[in-house]
This record gives sequence, C-alpha cells and structure tokens, in this order.
Amino acid sequence: MAKLITLFLLKLFLLCFLPRSNAVYDVLNFGAKADGKTDSAQAFLKAWTAACGSSSPATLHVPAGSFLLSQATFNGPCKNTAIKFSIHGTIAAPSNYTKFGASGKWIVFDDVEGVTISGGELDGRGADLWTCKLDGRSCPTGATSLTFSNSKNIVIDGLASVNSELYHIVILGCQGVRVQGVYITAAGNSPNTDGIHVQMSTGVSIVQATIKTGDDCISIGPGTSNLWIERVFCGPGHGISIGSLGKEGQGLQEEGVENVTVKSVVFAGTQNGVRIKTWATDVRGYVKGVVFFNALMRNVQNPIIIDQNYCPGNKNCPDQNSRVGISHVKYKNIRGTSATKDAVNFDCSPSNPCNGIRLKNIKLTYQNEQAKSKCKHAYGIATGSVIPPSCL
Ligand SMILES: *[C@@H]1O[C@H](CO)[C@@H](O)[C@H](O)[C@H]1NC(C)=O
Ligand SMILES: *[C@@H]1O[C@H](CO)[C@@H](O)[C@H](O)[C@H]1NC(C)=O
Repeated sequence: MAKLITLFLLKLFLLCFLPRSNAVYDVLNFGAKADGKTDSAQAFLKAWTAACGSSSPATLHVPAGSFLLSQATFNGPCKNTAIKFSIHGTIAAPSNYTKFGASGKWIVFDDVEGVTISGGELDGRGADLWTCKLDGRSCPTGATSLTFSNSKNIVIDGLASVNSELYHIVILGCQGVRVQGVYITAAGNSPNTDGIHVQMSTGVSIVQATIKTGDDCISIGPGTSNLWIERVFCGPGHGISIGSLGKEGQGLQEEGVENVTVKSVVFAGTQNGVRIKTWATDVRGYVKGVVFFNALMRNVQNPIIIDQNYCPGNKNCPDQNSRVGISHVKYKNIRGTSATKDAVNFDCSPSNPCNGIRLKNIKLTYQNEQAKSKCKHAYGIATGSVIPPSCL
C-alpha cells in the first residue's frame, strides 16, 4: 500500500512540477526549402498554425540556410502564450520589390501574446528600391520588414535585420515589448529605413542595439508611453527622434508621448543626436516626461534639438505654429563633438512654448571654436557645468 501511495505521489509530482512538453515545429517539415529561392511563405504559415494551435508552449524552428518568404502575417490569438519563433538562418524577401504590392508590410505578427522571436537574420533586400527612390523614379513605398501589432508580452532577441525596404522593425499598438541585442543595418543614404519605430505602445524597452541606417535609428510616434532605451549605438542615421508628431490626428487631436528614457547611447556621425520634432500645424498633442542621459556624441550635426517648425514643402502649416506642448524634458551628462556650431537648438512653438527643460552637465564642442545654444520659446533651468552656455 505504502509503495502504491509513493508511486502515486511521484507521478503527481512529475505531472505538476516538470516542465510541460515544448512542441517543436520545424518549418522544413511543413514544406519550407532552405534554398533561398523557393517561396516558403505557405510552409511558415502552416508551421505557425500548428504552434499557435498548440495548448502547451511551442517552438517554431527555422533552421540554418536561406528561406525566401514572399510575405507572411502570423495571426493570433493563439492557444498558448509561450511561442518561440527561433531563427537560425536567414529569411529573405523577394528580390523584386514590386512583388510586395501595396500592403507596406513584409513579416507581421498581429494580435499575439507571449511570442519571442530570436536569432537569425531578416534580409529585406531593399537596395533596388532605394536606388529607384534615389533616382527619383516612380516607385512603390516599400515594406516594413518586421511588424508587431496589437500584441502583448513580446521579446525580440538577438535578431539581425538588414537592408529593409522601409522601416526595419515597427511596434504598433503593443503592451510589454523587450527588444534586446538586435543588430540593424542599411546604407547610410537609404531612404526611410528607420531602425525601430514605436507607436501607440506602452512598456517597451530597447536594450543593447546596434543600429546603422539611412533614417532615424529609433523613432517614437504618437501614443507611446513608458519607453526605455538603453545602450544603443546609432550611426550612420538620423539619431533618436520623438516625432514627427502633430502631422494628422482625429479631430486635430493626437495621442501624446509620455515617460521616455534614453540612456547610455553613442551617436556616431549622425544627422541628429536626441531630437524632438513636431509639425507646425494645428494638431494638438504633447510630449512630457522625457530623460536623455549619458549620451556620447561623435561629430553629430544636431546633438540636442527640439524642432517644432517642421513643415517640409510648406504645406498645411498655415501659421507655422505647432500645437504640440513639450514639457519636462531633461538632458543630463551629454558630451562629445558637434559637427555644426549650433550644438543645442531649442526651436519651440510660439503658442505652446517648451517648459520644464533641464540641462545638467553638458559638454559639447565644435572643432576649435565655441559651440552655441539657440533658444526660441524655450523655458527651463541649467545646472552643473553646461557648455555651450545655456540660453534657457
Ligand atoms: C519585377 O516584377 C515586375 C512585375 O511583375 C516586372 O515587370 C519587372 O520586370 C520585374 N523586375 C525584375 C528586375 O525582374
Ligand atoms: C509616467 O510616469 C509617472 C511617474 O512614474 C506615472 O505616474 C504615470 O502614470 C506614467 N504615465 C503613463 C502614461 O503611464
């Protein structure tokens, strides 16, 4: 009897405490070909359907080799909240950019929870499209390489994204996203190849990334709150940018940006360092609670900049006046070299001046001359040693 009870308890223990089986779905078993030329989209989608339909944790395995993927949307909701999308090889976009059509997206995860995408490389093969755009021919907009939309508890880990046609990674309408150890690269003159774009999302962290691109390394759109960025190398590129904001909004009202921290970032040869940029239109919105600290600038054209006069082509900016209010922005311990004389430039809105700007321990130099600070409609305080001297 005692023996039976022991056996029963042992079984119960095993059932309760051992990890549940992690089903592995290898895309090769669903017909994918690692030959770089057979479209594996259907195979990937079938493997996803299996992983997503599993009631226990599941792994979708993409082995070494190159997989051509025309386009894929991985939809949830799924039956489990622990799916690993584990990439060991390269997933390549079609070489002919006209094949994307007008959707603007290559690989999409929508309405998923608890998905981790790791390792491997996404190759957007964007170079022909960039050439088309740079030549001024009429070309399609192109596609974002990887989009997570309307999703929760996402991890993007150790992924490389190269040569996207448009943005590399977009996080839209998500809650709880950790992007760590990603490597992003596209030519320094490639149009609109932003590294990571975050919008309408909360609780996103981007930690330890290397981003070299033709547009913003990281861009932050409306409706972003509680964003943490740390240990990023940026360059070439246009820097880390909150905005552009205030372009269009429902009934002239746009969601604000709140609680953004950018910490320990190196900018090398970029157009901007830390930037906040709003259109000079009558769309209302706000940016508040931003901290930029421990940044190193190496030959950056606009190391610290707020530009509320953005209006390319001077269209739909009747009075050149932004309604996006910018407040409580702190710059602390920002050092290095500016590639222009105006190392600090606060060009704020006449009707909505920037307030609560704080500068502390800044040292930005320009060649052998004294760099300058410029302020328009900007209020706040400077403490510690601030070079060039504050104009707040
Ligand atoms: C790309 O596809 C389009 C439409 O199918 C075709 O007209 C064009 O010739 C292709 N380009 C190349 C380089 O194959
Ligand atoms: C921003 O941070 C403050 C202070 O930690 C917090 O009270 C506020 O709720 C945060 N805002 C959002 C939108 O989460």
